[in-house]
Amino acid sequence: MRLARRRTSNHCIPVTKDGVSVCISASLLLFFEHHRCIEADLFTIMRPFPYKVDYNDHFETPEVAYRDILPLLDFVSGKSRVEHSIYDPYYCNGRFKTLMKELGFSNVIHECRDFYKDIDKNQVPNHDTLITNPPYSDQHKEKCLEFVLNQLRSKGRPFFVLMPNYVAAREYYRKLVEKVRTLYCTSVYA
Ligand SMILES: C[S@@+](CC[C@H](N)C(=O)[O-])C[C@H]1O[C@@H](n2cnc3c(N)ncnc32)[C@H](O)[C@@H]1O
Repeated sequence: MRLARRRTSNHCIPVTKDGVSVCISASLLLFFEHHRCIEADLFTIMRPFPYKVDYNDHFETPEVAYRDILPLLDFVSGKSRVEHSIYDPYYCNGRFKTLMKELGFSNVIHECRDFYKDIDKNQVPNHDTLITNPPYSDQHKEKCLEFVLNQLRSKGRPFFVLMPNYVAAREYYRKLVEKVRTLYCTSVYA
């Protein structure tokens, strides 16, 4: 996908070669559940975590999903990949760091820490862009959305979140995004 920049009064819109606007200003919420996640190995599943885990959450994002958003990642940051600091707060076995380093990002924050404790203690690391695939069990999707939208509003931080399409039809999603002036959701087809 080639991106061109188009400026409007408030927004900078990336436009694909065929003229389709795909995202806007500092935010992009991606839904691409067709990107089949990779089940973690037995060693990962059995290890202790500093947070409550659910076996069905132990799936990792495939490399192709990151490759698909590379042009947008470069676009939202305006920095080189070496300078662009990216953060994935939800940890399975650390694959995010390895994959992003292979794609040229050397400033990658992804540690086995309790994300919610970090939020409560105001210890979320400084970063330019959040990229994640949250657990889909319990209230994780809502908590993740609440965090990224707050960060967008307060700090203008861009985010890329991989979630199932059905989230866009949920009441909690509508309530959370209605406070955001502009939010673009998209499906990316492999
Ligand atoms: C769907 S996986 C995605 C892992 C990784 N973000 C990726 O995209 O490949 C979500 C992971 O978040 C972990 N998790 C659950 N609660 C967490 C918490 N409070 N803090 C950090 N990670 C958590 C789960 O154990 C699970 O392995």
